[in-house]
Amino acid sequence: MRRLSLVVLLALCSVAPVLAQGARPTVPDSAGDPWWKHAVIYEIYPRSFQDTNRDGVGDLKGIASRLAYLHQLGVDAIWITPMYPSPQVDFGYDISDYEAIDPIYGTMGDFDDLMKVAKQQGIRVIMDLVLNHTSDQHPWFLQSRSSRTNPKRDWYIWHDPAPGGGPPNNWQSWFGHSAWTLDPTTGQYYYHYFYVQQPDLNWRNPEVKKAMYDVLRFWLDKGVSGFRMDAVSRLFEDPNLHDDPYLPGSNAFGDRNIQHKYTDDLPEIHDVFREIRKLVDSYPGHPVLISEADEPNIQGLARMYGHDDEIQLPMDFQIADANELSATKFRKLFQDVENNPAHGWPEFFFSNHDQPRQWDRYGDGTHNQQIAGLMAILELTARGTPQMYYGEEIGMRTTEPTRKEDVRDPEGITGWPKEKGRDGERTPMQWTAEAPNAGFSPAEVKTWLPVPESARTVNVATESAQPESLYNLYRRLLALRHTEPALIHGDYRPLNEDDPNVFSYMRQARVGDRTRKVVVALNMSNAIRTIRLQGSKAVGPGATGKILASNFEAAGSTQSLGEVKLPAFGGVVIGIQ
Ligand code: GLC
Ligand code: CA
Repeated sequence: MRRLSLVVLLALCSVAPVLAQGARPTVPDSAGDPWWKHAVIYEIYPRSFQDTNRDGVGDLKGIASRLAYLHQLGVDAIWITPMYPSPQVDFGYDISDYEAIDPIYGTMGDFDDLMKVAKQQGIRVIMDLVLNHTSDQHPWFLQSRSSRTNPKRDWYIWHDPAPGGGPPNNWQSWFGHSAWTLDPTTGQYYYHYFYVQQPDLNWRNPEVKKAMYDVLRFWLDKGVSGFRMDAVSRLFEDPNLHDDPYLPGSNAFGDRNIQHKYTDDLPEIHDVFREIRKLVDSYPGHPVLISEADEPNIQGLARMYGHDDEIQLPMDFQIADANELSATKFRKLFQDVENNPAHGWPEFFFSNHDQPRQWDRYGDGTHNQQIAGLMAILELTARGTPQMYYGEEIGMRTTEPTRKEDVRDPEGITGWPKEKGRDGERTPMQWTAEAPNAGFSPAEVKTWLPVPESARTVNVATESAQPESLYNLYRRLLALRHTEPALIHGDYRPLNEDDPNVFSYMRQARVGDRTRKVVVALNMSNAIRTIRLQGSKAVGPGATGKILASNFEAAGSTQSLGEVKLPAFGGVVIGIQ
């Protein structure tokens, strides 16, 4: 009963465009849903968010100092990419100690302080969990490589050379070379799906599992709300070392000419997922598991949920990898995840630290600003849990290095000039227009990656002051998501399904004896389009509409439902009365 009246109350004030600062309510939770179903997750790349100790690299104190900003933006949880001790070959994805903080980022005391501030701001913290491999500098690997009889030998994947010499088989690393490296000390090869400095752990060894499960407990005991599990489909490899099949055509860079049949998605991963799920479920507060596994299709994605006993939020790479702004394509992708055979809750994103930012990926070079707003509307009104990437709320651009000597990401160092690596999407957050360093670093220091030129106009301070900025559209959408029942727990129905240009859908929720309906219409074409909503089975003849958010029209205005006219790349969220 209490819950119900809270929902009704919130429904009544649901059209307030932006909530007053600090007034974000606890999300109404009519179905007793766990928090992560109604959360917006924000990924932070710690090197690039906020520097406080003037060394040009972001740090934990910096993140803590910006949590009030994230609260105000409307974020519920942050996922911080690895900030554990690391030689930084793969910028933290090569971990040498899973239960400590890299001094570049601060101390364990700073982490504990961050957790306190996060709690005050109502923001949960999700850790990045790299289970597949460690750094080659991790004491486990140093021991493992020291001799064939070391007790840790079997913690990693070691094999003799092929009978005629050379690597044991044709397995390839994601970064474009053999996945085997010969270690002269013992004359055997070790396996690494990623860089040479990232040896794969042997997940068939129970001691490895136990050690990693202890890592999970360590962070859960500190109060974290879950884990983003890095590269988890790669935990197991074929013990019989079958060669992976080659794909037709070859590619000069990377492993894209080989199918990872024997090194990816082996059925054993699901046993591990179930064990980990049991472990996190034994903690209070519904900790969440988010998997990074770029499954080739919806069936693959659906398998990650198990029978609701594995991953709660498998990241949807079908959506993230759609590089084309196409109403037909997005309608299909959102329909696929909506109807996923496991009935799992969708999790989607467009940008992260491994792929070009959505500003560039969907932008056509002329309407990028408009398109960035369109994508924001899609991301924050679809059914599921959206995952943002730092800086997308201001429209940060992918800013790739132009000279080989400036490249920091080893993927770019190896692949230059064809593959410029991932530096472009990892540049420092742009807080202000001013020097030094757009507010990212308080000092006139050389930042680890340069602050892009665009910071002069694309930054939080400037955009906060512009009512029609992308930043303010994000704030409005995030506020709506937390107050409008149709967006919080409404179902999803595609509309006008034959329209090749406009992707539109309705979200609908029962609140007491009323039905809340919200229609979203997204023109993904470079021409004015008109759609009809009235008269369809979704929108009755007497209904009227009110704009709740849009990238072309002020919120609050009335919207005719007979004809909804959308400018090129125009998107609108309409409350139906
Ligand atoms: C994941 C990370 C990526 C990293 C790789 C190896 O894909 O997102 O940044 O390079 O794993 O750990
Ligand atoms: Ca620093």
